Amino acid sequence: MCYKMPEIYQPEEDSYLISEVLKKELPKILKFNHELNFLEIGIGSGINLKAALKSGIKKENILGTDINEEAVNHCINLGFDCIKSDLFDKVNGKFNVIAFNPPYLPEDEKEPVDSRRETTGGEKGNELTIKFIQEAGDYLKENGVIFVVTSSLSKRIGFDYFGYNAEEVGHKNLFFEKLSVWKLEVK
Ligand SMILES: C[S@@+](CC[C@H](N)C(=O)[O-])C[C@H]1O[C@@H](n2cnc3c(N)ncnc32)[C@H](O)[C@@H]1O
Repeated sequence: MCYKMPEIYQPEEDSYLISEVLKKELPKILKFNHELNFLEIGIGSGINLKAALKSGIKKENILGTDINEEAVNHCINLGFDCIKSDLFDKVNGKFNVIAFNPPYLPEDEKEPVDSRRETTGGEKGNELTIKFIQEAGDYLKENGVIFVVTSSLSKRIGFDYFGYNAEEVGHKNLFFEKLSVWKLEVK
């Protein structure tokens, strides 16, 4: 993840990692439920909405949100149902799969304030992700799963403490950080 102008987050290593994980994991879940519905929080350029579609999820079962209106309008133009929402604020209903590649970097005074929305997860970096996992349980269907990205640059999250079984289903070692994708299931 690197600092950006405040338009739409363009795919980086984190985006490619989670989109590849989704393309590997979603078909396995679809085998048991052809009608599964998918929610992505923080859609950015739409890379993961496209991964969900490519994996076989029906377009009408895909919903995307972002706090950034430009990202929402961009993904609506790609043909996806999307709404502007701060995490789950404007989300209704429950989902089989919820994905989030969150802003996860710790606050850095050198970063322009405008671009922090795409990159900064809070003082320690993990605050927004913790808020997400605390709220996500209310929007998961029974046996639903969450896919979420973390970075070794932000404070580690004890998923167990928040009531989830966590499995690392993908990772990438960069020279300065390790990115992980976690599959979370409510205990
Ligand atoms: C790291 S980017 C990921 C974008 C895209 N999913 C990808 O993988 O390339 C994080 C995205 O989350 C959005 N975001 C940040 N805070 C948010 C919030 N509170 N609620 C919803 N989206 C948020 C940002 O606008 C940005 O598009």
